[in-house]
Amino acid sequence: MKDKKILNIGIDLGTSRSVIVCDNGIRQAIPSFIGYPKDAVSLKLLGEMVYGEDAIRHRLSVKLYRPFDKGVLLQDNSDKKGDAHLKSSAIARALLRKLVAYAFEEEEDDKLLLRGVIGAPALATQNNKKDFLEIADGVLDDVMIASEPFCVAYGMNALDSALIVDIGAGTTDLCRMHGTIPGPDDQITTFKAGDYVDQIFLELIENKYKEANFTVNMIKRFKEENASVSEHGEQLFIELPIKGKPTSCDVTNELREACHAIVPDIVEGIRKLVATFDPEFQDGLKQNVILAGGGSRMIGLHKEIETYMKKTLGYGKVTRVEDSLYAGANGALMLCKDMPDEYWDELKKRK
Ligand SMILES: Nc1ncnc2c1ncn2[C@@H]1O[C@H](COP(=O)(O)OP(=O)(O)O)[C@@H](O)[C@H]1O
Ligand SMILES: [Mg+2]
Repeated sequence: MKDKKILNIGIDLGTSRSVIVCDNGIRQAIPSFIGYPKDAVSLKLLGEMVYGEDAIRHRLSVKLYRPFDKGVLLQDNSDKKGDAHLKSSAIARALLRKLVAYAFEEEEDDKLLLRGVIGAPALATQNNKKDFLEIADGVLDDVMIASEPFCVAYGMNALDSALIVDIGAGTTDLCRMHGTIPGPDDQITTFKAGDYVDQIFLELIENKYKEANFTVNMIKRFKEENASVSEHGEQLFIELPIKGKPTSCDVTNELREACHAIVPDIVEGIRKLVATFDPEFQDGLKQNVILAGGGSRMIGLHKEIETYMKKTLGYGKVTRVEDSLYAGANGALMLCKDMPDEYWDELKKRK
């Protein structure tokens, strides 16, 4: 083992996207989907398993799975030995394997010691830490699990007096940083995030254009290109088939309302984390709220949250991470490199 070269790896295992970043410069992101062929024909066409974009593209011929639901491993409340649980960890492991395979050439495999930090939804890291260790067993040689918002904070060196708001697909994870590894009291999870925006947007369009025929995938793409909470945006039109004919539909107000739907819970989460903190340090938190995750790309969101914070907390300063796709994995990689060898040895002994 000792003579192997260490490859440091940062992984962000998200509900909707999984990302790997390595210290050999390799980085890659894939949608967190796995598809298993539905029948003999699709098996011949696709092989035993398809991943990421391929799984989504072939969704009609495969059973599509993602490892997390609402921030925890799918159905992990069921009997621990039951099939459903096995399936969700098998899916997470297959995804992890696929991601890690991007990191090096096959022939290098037995020359490298693979050392990784896995960032995962905050709730899952509280409830399923052991499961993650099992999932990584046999894929990584050394592994540490951390919550996604903590990884984001670590990557930005925002370890002291910062409040991270990671707006993902299934959950928004809020995390208070105060110079140590955050505990359960420092984190709040709300289920209003990207998927919720899609759901509200879908319902609002269905109500307005009763004969339009569309899927959540179609409007999600539109959302990602146009999402904004600003009052002063331009008019937005989406083309949807009505009785088979593509028709231009005005969805300006619908998209804004859907984007707005996640704001009150986020602001309430921020208020709680500030209000329950040591009063002498509350100002520091208010001054350094950082938005991360795909949802942070909504235009005007940081200003909107500042306005709410002003009303409820006196003031607030909100910024966004620059690279929302890679921020979590970059932080996980930094954490991986910073942990001394003794720490990894210690982790191994505890296993
Ligand atoms: N430009 C954008 N505006 C608003 N939402 C976006 C944008 N880009 C991505 N999203 C949403 O962000 C969510 C995914 O964020 P991500 O941080 O990748 O999630 P996760 O960590 O759960 O995998 C999805 O709901 C996606 O639709
Ligand atoms: Mg995420």
